[in-house]
Amino acid sequence: MPIYEPGLKEIIEECRGKNLFFSTDSEKAIQDADMIFIAVNAPTKIGGQGAGRAQDIIHCENCARMIAENATTSKIVVEKGTYPVRTAEAIARVLNHNSRGLMHHVLSNPEFLAQGTAVADFKDPSRVLIGGQKTDQEATDKLVSVYVNWVPRDRILTTSTWSSELSKLVANAFLAQRVSSINSISALCEATGADVTEISRAVGMDDRIGSKFLRASVGFGKSRFRKDIMSLIYLCESYGLQECAEYWNHVILINDFQKKRFSEKVVRKMFSTVTGKKLAMLGYAFKKDTGDVRETASMYVVRDLILEEARVHIYDPKVKRSDMMAEFDYTCGINAKNTPKLDQLVVTATDPYEACNGAHCLLILTDWDEFKDVDYEKIFTSMAKPAFLFDGRNMLDHVALRKIGFEVHGIGKPDPNEFSDL
Ligand code: UGA
Repeated sequence: MPIYEPGLKEIIEECRGKNLFFSTDSEKAIQDADMIFIAVNAPTKIGGQGAGRAQDIIHCENCARMIAENATTSKIVVEKGTYPVRTAEAIARVLNHNSRGLMHHVLSNPEFLAQGTAVADFKDPSRVLIGGQKTDQEATDKLVSVYVNWVPRDRILTTSTWSSELSKLVANAFLAQRVSSINSISALCEATGADVTEISRAVGMDDRIGSKFLRASVGFGKSRFRKDIMSLIYLCESYGLQECAEYWNHVILINDFQKKRFSEKVVRKMFSTVTGKKLAMLGYAFKKDTGDVRETASMYVVRDLILEEARVHIYDPKVKRSDMMAEFDYTCGINAKNTPKLDQLVVTATDPYEACNGAHCLLILTDWDEFKDVDYEKIFTSMAKPAFLFDGRNMLDHVALRKIGFEVHGIGKPDPNEFSDL
């Protein structure tokens, strides 16, 4: 399996060749299908109009062309990926210009599953959203009849195509906004001596607010949140809604601020210099239970630290060095050609102890459960002193770590050296 997703390998092994088939024969696959799901990527444009914000739906368009060319009967075409609002219209226009005079139906059925819990989310979704226009009623009913096999009917929502497409962007934007909201408060906590975990609990116990997605962190990662908000910003701008665009842009700005704030704090606390120092990093993926490194906050922290000439030794249980370096090059433009010392500055370790041996500080960047079970006494003994620990996920027992001897800094956690009244 090229990707790590808990439970996925087992499903594929069980179903492959029975009711799950992989093929590169698109012509036959299209002809045999009643329903066709489009799940191709729509990357953020890197040039031309809307560069850096607009999504490029060329792959969707190409799928529509392929279906129009090869289909010999009418199809239900389902947008499964996250695409800008009114992409379905573009797909339908391409599809319905076919030489056989066939009328295809296009539905929107965005995916809400999260990485790391994708299988569980798919089996027991909070909701299934199906968007179609009035003329697509029969097609909508057919798609509903697929999901009712395992999803209670009252969790299947049907809306217009445009509401469905926009809901997906809005759902991700709201999740990202909550993370940025609590992260902005974490900065205030560090300045005032309040504790962000206590605030999350106190605020989240209000049913109207809810407790989820209030964990302060080094910043949200994965390209999805950033891409969806950028797409939302571009949509707002396209419709002349500048104030709305600016509102959402601040969610991104706070996320960038949070990542920067973290690396600046590391340097500041370590006597304002990390030059030549070995820094250990546990976790590189954008969250636990995945090997995905796209837009991971860790990458930005590493970038900032190697610009200071620190040597960063990284351990992550599922991230491949090749993926790490490819993303580093793609997003930060840093590679072995323009940074000849890259292999000495960014080293990957095979376990946490190797990463930490002789290190001046330990950075926790991903919330992998296994990091709770590491022998921190052993790590402390092997590190240079003072041994700094920066917990970018607030996942460890800071009191116990301080007893061992670490100088611990969390996110939105008051520093006992600065506040004598704690
Ligand atoms: C997200 C959404 O949760 C899914 O509903 C959606 O389907 C998916 O994007 C998508 O469109 O691809 P995912 O990116 O897998 O899923 O992960 P999340 O659990 O949402 O976490 C996103 C980021 O926010 C991670 O870096 C995570 O560590 C961070 N986060 C999350 C926090 O910093 N604090 C929190 O309280 C929650």
